[in-house]
Amino acid sequence: MKKIHLIAAARPNFMKIAPLYHELVKRPGLTPEIVHTGQHYDLNMSDVFFRDFNLPAPHIHLGVGSGSHAEQTGNVMIAYEKILIREKPDLVVVVGDVNSTVAATLAAVKLGIRTAHLEAGLRSFDRTMPEEINRIVTDSIADHLWTPSPDGDQNLLNEGVSKDRITRVGNIMIDSLEMLRSTIESMDVPKKLNRKKGTYGLITLHRPSNVDNPEILERLCRVLKEVSGKLPLIFPVHPRTSDRLLKTGHMAILENNNAITLTTPLGYTEFMNLVMGSRLLITDSGGVQEETTYLGIPCLTLRANTERPVTVAEGTNRLCTPDTLSEMVDLALSGNFSKQNPPDLWDGRTAARVADCIIKVVSSE
Ligand code: UD1
Ligand code: UDP
Repeated sequence: MKKIHLIAAARPNFMKIAPLYHELVKRPGLTPEIVHTGQHYDLNMSDVFFRDFNLPAPHIHLGVGSGSHAEQTGNVMIAYEKILIREKPDLVVVVGDVNSTVAATLAAVKLGIRTAHLEAGLRSFDRTMPEEINRIVTDSIADHLWTPSPDGDQNLLNEGVSKDRITRVGNIMIDSLEMLRSTIESMDVPKKLNRKKGTYGLITLHRPSNVDNPEILERLCRVLKEVSGKLPLIFPVHPRTSDRLLKTGHMAILENNNAITLTTPLGYTEFMNLVMGSRLLITDSGGVQEETTYLGIPCLTLRANTERPVTVAEGTNRLCTPDTLSEMVDLALSGNFSKQNPPDLWDGRTAARVADCIIKVVSSE
């Protein structure tokens, strides 16, 4: 049996490893094991996704928790190195671009253990973004680079990566969505929040560039309040954002407003049910840009750049700033963002393609 470690750490990782885990258990000769680094640990940032995606409890839990970038990255490396020496996996698969992604890759590569990066090649070309550093380092050292879109292949080739390390596999997030579509569609989460399908906008915000600077955060809160005058808003608040809103006192701008519903972060099926019923998304999330493109729902991304340019070129995503958000909401509400076909290989069959790659990798010793 070949042992495959799937590294999961933070909210956007669980939905990426889930379809892959379920595909790998079906393949003879492979034993997938989930390694949870513990970067996210709240029930609604971690456990809820194991329930939603019917995943077993993590086989290994590193329990690193929160910390500075160096602390978090270092703690994952130290804890995971011990596991790697003991467990000797045949392949370590990392996903996405969080601190644990780069940390697990570094620990494995230095022990000569094979590594693969799923969602490789994405670049925002903005090195002030912590994830951009994680992407560059991970892609420069991982053995196998599995990309979601042609821009990913091109970025890697431009960085001098040899062609034989790159395979375009498509977008695993679409597998996650299709896996749970019938459950998602059977729910009515807007009703629980006293809203009706098709009559609200949905918000997610957590990037340090938006929420860590008190002036920018205040400006954003004021614009969101203005937008809520045109369209009621539902806002499941990420723990980083909640912390910053409370510390700065800016939570008061959003609270006690009938047109803004604040909630804790939601499980995947609940959140996707809200996405499917929304007129538009206001977000800075990477995954949400992709989900809305696939579903054809207008997405206003509060960022200066995106590492997912196909969502703008081929999808319903538009970049905006606090200054342009309100007019972009008008444009989206007037039906200006037309639905297009999903990008190539965003088809719900990425996990199967990745499993084929894994079998090739572990059979080639
Ligand atoms: C992390 C990732 C980011 C990803 C995001 C997804 C990095 C550098 N950042 O950002 O790429 O988009 O996850 O959501 O890896 N906290 C809790 N409970 C939790 C987790 C975090 O309260 O379960 C709070 C803590 O105060 C913590 C803060 O949120 O200090 C930030 O958590 P952290 O994992 O460092 O970064 P995120 O902003 O969540
Ligand atoms: N998501 C969720 N509950 C929420 C908000 C988001 O399940 O309350 C899901 C969302 O559908 C997507 C993923 O979380 O699949 C994105 O994670 P996040 O925005 O935290 O990280 P990013 O993609 O920006 O790295």
